[in-house]
Amino acid sequence: MICLDNIQQLRQQIRTWRQQGLTIAMVPTMGNLHQGHLHLVTSALARADKVVVSIFVNPMQFGVNEDLDAYPRTLSADTQALTAVGADLLFTPQVSTMYPRGLAAQTVVDVPGISEAWCGASRPGHFRGVATVVAKLFNLVQPDIALFGNKDYQQLQVIKTMVADLCLPIEIVGINTQRAESGLALSSRNGYLTAEQMQLAPQLKQGLDKLEQAVIQGLDIDNAIANTLQQWQALGFKPDYLAVCNASNLRPAEPTDKHLVILAAAYLGKTRLIDNLEFTRD
Ligand code: PAF
Repeated sequence: MICLDNIQQLRQQIRTWRQQGLTIAMVPTMGNLHQGHLHLVTSALARADKVVVSIFVNPMQFGVNEDLDAYPRTLSADTQALTAVGADLLFTPQVSTMYPRGLAAQTVVDVPGISEAWCGASRPGHFRGVATVVAKLFNLVQPDIALFGNKDYQQLQVIKTMVADLCLPIEIVGINTQRAESGLALSSRNGYLTAEQMQLAPQLKQGLDKLEQAVIQGLDIDNAIANTLQQWQALGFKPDYLAVCNASNLRPAEPTDKHLVILAAAYLGKTRLIDNLEFTRD
């Protein structure tokens, strides 16, 4: 696997592949890779000739009181894992490479509407940081296709909207959330959980499953949401939000909406977990 932290060398390698007529897939990450990330890479390998993975803990998408400094940096294990699955190139830029004029001076990408509610409301500026860094990474790598986990459902919709709005010729593919046997969605932040919290964490997904059934049975959505929130609180979660939404525009579901997604975020101790469940009803 080619490892680069330099934009010029990255562009040169991309040019060489393009001259050879090869297609390129990209998997942007912040590192601390788990099976979910590696599944994105293997899915990418099946869809393009070359796969570029980026690891960049993007300061622009972290709020002032968030875990930027604590965010796990595990480059050597990540490099080994990516080599083992067969990624072709790992790009690991420094903050000064991505933001040479500093964060405050950086031109930004805002995606209005879809980025405003849910995680966007709880984490002001988060999706601006995500959209900005992903737009920059796309401009550097110019992939044909880019793959993201469905676990960050709102992020995926924000990126799809940005790509459509900016007319970027990139296919954005969402890949199914990878879960532990317990049902817990794999996430780099699961590493913050204590052993006791790890036992509780799968209840988040169990709450989503029950809520999905209630919605499919036609029960009152507001009541069903209130029940789920109550159960989570009784277990020790501090819910941030829980909503049943139209899967495309992420607005609260209307009675006529068929394609739905349940979006949820909740704290266990200091760890903020997110999860979602996409489904259809008749
Ligand atoms: O999902 C992530 O890991 C990040 O938000 C992303 C898409 C790599 C942008 O920094």
